[in-house]
Amino acid sequence: MKKIAFAIAWLLAAITVIAQEKETPTARMGGVSLLFRLDETGAPLYEVYFNGQPVINASRMGFRIKDNHALDAGFVIIGSEKKTVDETWKPVWGEVSSIRNHYEQLLVHLKQREAPGQLLDITFRVFEDGVGFRYTFPQQPGLHYFIVADELTEFCLTGDHKAFWIPGDYDTNEYPYTTSAISQIDNRELVRTSTAIAVRDAPDAYAVQTPLMLKTAAGLYINIHEAALSGYPAMQLHVNTGTYKLTAALVPDALGNKAYLHAPASTPWRTIIVSDKATGILASKLILNLNEPCALKNTSWIKPMKFAGVWWEMQTGKSGWNYSDYPDSVAAGGRLIPNGRHGANTANVKRYIDFAARNGIKGLLVEGWNVGWEDWFGNWKENVFDFVTPYPDFDVPEISRYAASKGVKMIMHNETSGSATNYERQMDTAFRFMKKYGYGSVKTGYVGKIIPRGEHHDGQWMISHYTRSVQKAAAYRVMIDIHEPARPTGMQRTWPNWLACEAGRGNEYNAFSDGNAPEHETILPFTRLMGGPMDYTPGIFRLKGYAASAPRRQVHTTLAKQLALYVTLYSPLQMAADLPENYEAHPDAFQFIKDVAVDWDDTKILEAEPGDYITIARREKGKANWFVGAITDENSRTATLDLSFLDKEKKYTAIVYKDAADAHWQTNPEAYTIKRVTVSNTTVLHILLAPGGGAAVSIMPLASEKK
Ligand code: NOJ
Ligand code: CA
Repeated sequence: MKKIAFAIAWLLAAITVIAQEKETPTARMGGVSLLFRLDETGAPLYEVYFNGQPVINASRMGFRIKDNHALDAGFVIIGSEKKTVDETWKPVWGEVSSIRNHYEQLLVHLKQREAPGQLLDITFRVFEDGVGFRYTFPQQPGLHYFIVADELTEFCLTGDHKAFWIPGDYDTNEYPYTTSAISQIDNRELVRTSTAIAVRDAPDAYAVQTPLMLKTAAGLYINIHEAALSGYPAMQLHVNTGTYKLTAALVPDALGNKAYLHAPASTPWRTIIVSDKATGILASKLILNLNEPCALKNTSWIKPMKFAGVWWEMQTGKSGWNYSDYPDSVAAGGRLIPNGRHGANTANVKRYIDFAARNGIKGLLVEGWNVGWEDWFGNWKENVFDFVTPYPDFDVPEISRYAASKGVKMIMHNETSGSATNYERQMDTAFRFMKKYGYGSVKTGYVGKIIPRGEHHDGQWMISHYTRSVQKAAAYRVMIDIHEPARPTGMQRTWPNWLACEAGRGNEYNAFSDGNAPEHETILPFTRLMGGPMDYTPGIFRLKGYAASAPRRQVHTTLAKQLALYVTLYSPLQMAADLPENYEAHPDAFQFIKDVAVDWDDTKILEAEPGDYITIARREKGKANWFVGAITDENSRTATLDLSFLDKEKKYTAIVYKDAADAHWQTNPEAYTIKRVTVSNTTVLHILLAPGGGAAVSIMPLASEKK
């Protein structure tokens, strides 16, 4: 009897499987729809449509598992579930104070026909502005601890789209962007000539980094990236320049393996954002929505801020990080012999503290304060810094006391030189030291080849290391800004003490290399910034003749554009990067940096086109003040600021900081004008931007204007 019942149950189950296989599971939200199916070999395929037009043609999914069955075909659908979620949440800080998370979810359960019948789940979330999906390896016999040899996810594009790309390098995101058709992608020349980047390892000539920004001939904007990257390597994309098929290329570890997992386990989300407007890409919250909610109970200690730094003077060669010229240049007493060029000396640091205090800048970063900078780089040296021993001319207790007395928060600097093993051993000691001396935040850095040797900046081991450093910082209530990590994927939602990271080509390239092209900052928001804020270090006022070793070097923007970047390059942590004396030479323009907010209730992307221009308006958190930034590439352009977002009950004073009529990034970058106008919600401002130029506008209700 039992046997018959079992046979009937089995038959019923088999029939449902067959029935389900015939159906095509779909999900949709607004104009975006997603189709999932298995092909005749049982290989999973997905397709994405926008307003009925294909965005991603049928693309394969799955994995090669080391020493195990491939999980890419032979599947049947054993079930699927759908639900709709519509909720609103509030980020601790951000571009807006409240975010709607509205999607239809399709969860597909797959099983391989042949023994041992391995299981794989795929979850799709379809939003009005795109799709996210991730894989889950359920707990099951035959798949406990396993190694991902390759992820086989494809993104089959519908044509030879225009792409904004940087090489798929395992160790860096600091390349300049290339704009080309998909068919023209080849990173070799760029990798070979980018000698200003310390460590380059891009073995695949046809690999690019994400976020990858694309534009179709029909004018559709597509952005491909990932969300919630943790415990897994970063995903790069291998490009087939003939078929326009992109394939996930995970960054390998020292042995060539991609990821070590233990079922049950999930991958990060693969994200495809799509819009018929470039502004829609910049306004998307899809990546944040795919991240987990805040993991911290108390976030009152997390405070967005502007900061100054004993830093640009080192980048430009006016002073140095190192106290001595050689690690072995010691006097008879065994002490290092000073070279007289050490920037992080107590008197100089106090000068910067005074400058920050005078101008209401909350934080001060000091680099080169701890011993080890004589041979910190290029030696693949493991025990490079200890993070607690200052050079003899940097008086830690006195500097802390002085900063506190002036209301300035010191920002710690922990450069690891890529020696993550050393940092792991020292982290608790380093954070205890910060707490003892009142440092509420830290800038970490990973310049150099990674230790454990053979690991990469963007591999699974380092991804886990960055997460550990963020969690460790949170345990000590310290905010963190990471330089040279993998590019962010929205994890700042979960760990809001992770204020920013670099993971891109910052303003500092203007100090030690040929720098960044005028279009660079019009591409960053569409690429690097899609996953999270960047510590770009804007605000350079002296745009020529600042580099000690290269007097002809210049920044490829006007001064007004440097101001606009505080608005167009979103970050809760913004540096006033130039030297105090350069700001004090232009107190009228510096007023914008003093006024501009770093945390926002609302954001309006007014106009944008990747590689060409961006105009953004933001309302200061808890205030009625708006700040607008408009930037252009190498072409002059008129920015249109339609101020209809202003409160119709109010009148405002707008202070417009713009390029002078004869300004030009190359010949006349420091020429600007400032004018005041009264505006209301019916005002439309037309502002002429110089080649490589920009404009910044602060808009404050009449009578409440900041002093
Ligand atoms: C590279 C960082 O991006 C830069 O800001 C820092 O000054 C140097 N490393 C030294 O740590
Ligand atoms: Ca860097």
